[in-house]
Parts: sequence; C-alpha cells; structure tokens
Amino acid sequence: MKLLVVKNYDEMSKVAAKELAEVISKKPESILGLATGGTPVGMYKELIDMHKNEELDFSKVTTVNLDEYVGLSGEHDQSYRYFMDSNLFNHVNIRKEYTYVPNGLAEDMHQECVNYDKRIEELGGIDVQVLGIGSNGHIGFNEPSDTLSLGTHVTDLAESTIEANSRYFASKEEVPTKALTMGLGAIMKAKKILLMVSGESKAEIMDKVVNGKITTQVPASFLQMHKDVVLIIDEDAARKIK
Ligand code: PGA
Repeated sequence: MKLLVVKNYDEMSKVAAKELAEVISKKPESILGLATGGTPVGMYKELIDMHKNEELDFSKVTTVNLDEYVGLSGEHDQSYRYFMDSNLFNHVNIRKEYTYVPNGLAEDMHQECVNYDKRIEELGGIDVQVLGIGSNGHIGFNEPSDTLSLGTHVTDLAESTIEANSRYFASKEEVPTKALTMGLGAIMKAKKILLMVSGESKAEIMDKVVNGKITTQVPASFLQMHKDVVLIIDEDAARKIK
C-alpha cells in the first residue's frame, strides 16, 4: 500500500483527481470504478474543472459504481445514480449509457447482481477503483461480518452506516436498510485502487486497515493484499496510523 498523507480534504481531492486523470489520459477507454458519499465529492469537482479547463476527456470512459440503495429509484435525490449524475456525469462529456450503477428497484435482485458482475467481466474488469471507507471499515457496502461475499449482492446496512448516512435524509427512519453492493471480488480484481480517507472520524479504523490483521470484521483490511493501492489520506485521518 502506497501512503500519501496530505494536509486536508481539499488536498486529498486534488491528489486523487490527478491520479484518476492520469489513468484516463493514459487509457482514454478506461473502466472506472466509482464511489459515492461525502469523501469523493471534492475529487469530482476537481475532475469537472479539469474537463472544463484542461480538456480532460471522458468521451470513451465507462464507469461502474460500487453500490446503490435498495428501494430508491435513480430519480430519488439520495440515490447513488442521482448522486453520480449531479456530482459528475451531468458536467462532463461522458456517454450516460456507459455509466453503470446497480438498479435499486430491480424486480429480481439476484438477477441484477448476476448481471452486474457479468457486465464488469465483459468490460474486462476495472482499471481503477475509487474507494471511500466507513468508520467501521466497510468498503462499498461490504459491512463487517463473519463472512464476506465475492460477488455483487444485497446486504443489510450496519447500524453505524445507517446512522452515518442519516445526515443526508430527513430522518434516520428514511434511510434504506438494504443496499446492492459490489463484492470484494470485483474490487480486489481492479488493476489499481485509490482509497480516499479524510477526517477524524476515520482515524481509529485506519491503523487497523493499514497495520491490523486481515479480517472480515474490517473489510478494508483485505486491501493489504492488493498490489497497487494508493491510500490518499489527510492528516486528521492518518493521526493514529503507527
Ligand atoms: P463518506 O462515506 O465518504 O460519506 O464518509 C464513506 C463510506 O461509507 O464508504
């Protein structure tokens, strides 16, 4: 794991955007694995700037997102489809039909998961996967558990995840309790991983992620086994890493 400790959220966003832009410049038809949440918002803003001012070209890019809430349509303003459209896709020259987010309203969830993994396979896998992390160590919505799944699956959200994400909803009761998430398989098969971490609330888990034993109770600890992870972390989040 390559550690880049940066000053703050803005620096993290800039460094991550640069890393991603480099991948796209080298391979314009890149398959990008993308993430939602508070962490990557600043990076997406930087990428939009690079598109507008430095001609960063998304015209051949394909994207696959990590996850989606079960029960929310893409028009719901808390769905991850809506997040991606409003935070990135609507502002760059990407082909919308080549942006994939799991369908939270699929009639047959099992089939939706099978199809999602098949699509990633057919695309030839992910060139670079962007990840945030939950303060419980989850990546995507692979929550701490006795077991982890390799494939895309429907999962119950951890209580701490519902609590953390309730800041975006009118009340905690409105947060969906289930999500579709890519499993550890597609994430670990990505050629490169950019793990972005910011803020005090992530400090406790980050020492376990970097130095702890590999355990399903800290899903991000599996990243220790990946050969090309760049961890872009701000000082607040890096404070407890030994
Ligand atoms: P955050 O969420 O970026 O909103 O902190 C990250 C995550 O839960 O994976």
